[in-house]
Amino acid sequence: MKNKRIAIIGAGPSGLAQIRAFESAKKQGKEIPEIVCFEKQDNWGGMWNYTWRTGVGKFGEPIHGSMYKYLWSNGPKECLEFSDYSFDEHFKKPISSYPPRPVLFDYIQGRINKSNARDYIRFNTTLRWLTFNEETEKFTLFLDDLKNNKTYEEKFDYVVVATGHFSTPNMPFFEGIDEFPGAVMHAHDFRGADQFIDKDLLLIGSSYSAEDIGVQCYKHGSKSVTLSYRSNPIGLSWPKGIEERPLVTHFEGSKAFFKDGTSKEFDAVVMCTGYQHKFPFLPSYLRLKTENNLYPDHLYKGIFFQTQPKLIYLGMQDQYYTFNMFDAQAWLSRDYMMGDFKLPSKEEQRKDIDQWLEKYSKVDDPKEDVDFQADYIKDLIQMTDYPDFNVEKVGEMFKQWLQDKEDNILTYRDKTFRSVLTGTMAEEHHTEWMDEMDDSLERYLMKEDKAEKKTAVLS
Ligand SMILES: Cc1cc2nc3c(=O)[nH]c(=O)nc-3n(C[C@H](O)[C@H](O)[C@H](O)COP(=O)(O)OP(=O)(O)OC[C@H]3O[C@@H](n4cnc5c(N)ncnc54)[C@H](O)[C@@H]3O)c2cc1C
Ligand SMILES: NC(=O)c1ccc[n+]([C@@H]2O[C@H](COP(=O)([O-])OP(=O)(O)OC[C@H]3O[C@@H](n4cnc5c(N)ncnc54)[C@H](OP(=O)(O)O)[C@@H]3O)[C@@H](O)[C@H]2O)c1
Repeated sequence: MKNKRIAIIGAGPSGLAQIRAFESAKKQGKEIPEIVCFEKQDNWGGMWNYTWRTGVGKFGEPIHGSMYKYLWSNGPKECLEFSDYSFDEHFKKPISSYPPRPVLFDYIQGRINKSNARDYIRFNTTLRWLTFNEETEKFTLFLDDLKNNKTYEEKFDYVVVATGHFSTPNMPFFEGIDEFPGAVMHAHDFRGADQFIDKDLLLIGSSYSAEDIGVQCYKHGSKSVTLSYRSNPIGLSWPKGIEERPLVTHFEGSKAFFKDGTSKEFDAVVMCTGYQHKFPFLPSYLRLKTENNLYPDHLYKGIFFQTQPKLIYLGMQDQYYTFNMFDAQAWLSRDYMMGDFKLPSKEEQRKDIDQWLEKYSKVDDPKEDVDFQADYIKDLIQMTDYPDFNVEKVGEMFKQWLQDKEDNILTYRDKTFRSVLTGTMAEEHHTEWMDEMDDSLERYLMKEDKAEKKTAVLS
């Protein structure tokens, strides 16, 4: 075991979960393999590590981050709580159910700071390419040390791909958009609602990015927000100022034309058209090729690449459950790499994947999506020793969240939920979400009397 080498690519929630899984085995007195995590950014946290930059970073690498200022959790925090590190343990007091990004980033760091995880990570290092040698059964990784502008190679026995899949934009073309006079961007490059104050904004897409960017821009003072859908509208009862229209057919100057024959002038367009699973560092035969869905094909138990299980993918599913799902995956992948979990034959693996795909093909609404992902997580947890948590109860919270959004998209973030780990009921945030313009950790953790003063100063 000692001379086995494991490469983890990416130090976002999934990569950090993998490190944490090994550390938990070490704590139990087990000998763990040598682990090296490569992270192209200069800090951990993945998506949660906010950057103001767009395009390329200071070393010319594509910017990974798609998060923006004023981004608040879009699901209850009780649904993503690490089952080995509660919010109570971290914040030492109840907090609200929908914290802003810096608060969740702080929580992610809290768990990992308790260990020596940083020692395993080589920051500012991009995996450029890898090969697998069938005879030696080893991977050779070609790595770029960005700071020193130096390329080098190293050999590993296993590779864990934890590079996320909400970073490379899917950017469709619409006739005339190349002549549109205002800003045109993808949600990946959206960094906050400020620049769209008093603007007429067109968002193309009808999923989470469209919904959230639309509501953020409405909250921060856009003149109007129009959401344009391809398949189905989001279908909520929107406040005056937000509306949905069918797909854009084409643009003429600043005017967009829609499938229902209507048209409208816009100042800016944001494509909320999703992301591509992109692995430029993998040869085609090792590359996961999939749409964004809850059960990508060719991954046994959602993680082991079927033709080469020494290549493990974490977090490649579309996500209701997030951090706790990545953990359960990382714990099982650790067991496999340490020889404690044996893979069945290729045929058995295929059969298992097919059963999940068959089950998934029958799922046809968001509530069933939640049940499906809950079943998947339960399946993982019964195979490993990730601390059990009440997956069903979390599923119920997700369903309540879906209902709350339907009831009122502007107030659902004011609702509170109870932790399935500690039984703690979340506190209401000192300021209603629609009135809260400051997403800093300091402001969030402020006592109510102080927070009131700040609101008074702001208004
Ligand atoms: C706008 C937005 C908002 C979201 N909001 C929520 C939310 O409210 N709640 C929630 O639970 N989830 C949310 N998510 C989902 C989010 O993706 C997950 O919470 C989580 O960040 C996924 O973790 P990950 O580690 O799999 O991937 P990521 O967080 O994307 O991390 C991947 C890491 O891999 C690194 N990397 C990539 N390529 C390389 C390479 N070649 N070499 C070295 N390193 C590399 C990246 O720099 C990055 O640090 C949101 C996603 C987006 C895009
Ligand atoms: N505050 C937050 O926490 C927050 C905010 C934003 C995003 N997120 C997260 O980010 C992740 C990604 O969400 P996402 O909404 O960016 O991606 P997504 O869920 O994959 O949705 C992509 C959307 O783009 C549409 N689309 C794709 N190609 C199109 C085309 N050619 N023309 C028109 N429409 C097209 C799709 O329409 P069809 O339905 O027709 O396929 C769908 O509505 C999610 O995990 C979400 O939770 C979170």
